[in-house]
Amino acid sequence: MRHMQRKPLVAANWKMYKTVMEAVDTARRMCQRIAADAVAEVMIAPAFVSLAGVGEAIRGSRIVLGAQNMHWEKEGAFTGEVSAAMLQSVGCRYVILGHSERRQFFGETDSSVHRKIVAALQAGLIPVFCIGETEAERDSQQTFSVLERQLGGGLGQLNDQEIQSLVIAYEPVWAIGTGKTASNDQIQDVHAFLRRYLEDKYNNALAKSIRILYGGSVKAGNAKQILALPDVDGALVGGASLDAESFACIVESCSG
Ligand code: PGA
Repeated sequence: MRHMQRKPLVAANWKMYKTVMEAVDTARRMCQRIAADAVAEVMIAPAFVSLAGVGEAIRGSRIVLGAQNMHWEKEGAFTGEVSAAMLQSVGCRYVILGHSERRQFFGETDSSVHRKIVAALQAGLIPVFCIGETEAERDSQQTFSVLERQLGGGLGQLNDQEIQSLVIAYEPVWAIGTGKTASNDQIQDVHAFLRRYLEDKYNNALAKSIRILYGGSVKAGNAKQILALPDVDGALVGGASLDAESFACIVESCSG
């Protein structure tokens, strides 16, 4: 049974999919389709160019807006980058940081992810801080040490209050976009490990109240069992979030 303090979050990561028109259209359909009394908080993270349009489409609904990345500096000569204040100004409440695709293809490191987390919190955005091991790391029994390193590096010297206001997303790299979901035992083991780590390093209240999402091939067919695991507080969904109907089914899989 999930701790009452933790309201589940089901988040859509649209990655580099959908034109502005397609994004707005899907967002509108999600607003119509997702019941007003759904248990989970719902977030959509479209590409930067679609944030304003999707923000407009979901205005007044129960869906909130998130971004997929940002830069850590407040402003400056950083061609192609977007700041936390810019995301705030377009209505974002969340920002996904340290996604494995950013780490893998765009050179993000634990320390750059840390700088982004600090900047996001300062701007009042809620970071969805992603961590996860590769297949090779799991096969060589390094899962927990990798997660510890990523978590320690990303959180750095943040204080309890700051850590409490972010969301962690555990996404095993080998399960992202592959259709290979981690087993329920693998997911629960890691989530319980992360909560223990937070309890040891910080305190019990923090460990109990922080939300830890699972991501990696979550779909309508497996969401219910994953979301029912005691230490899973929601899902970060890629592929299956692109379609309004399948995403709504995942949201509905979340029970209290
Ligand atoms: P997936 O992606 O659901 O397509 O595996 C998850 C993610 O990358 O956040």
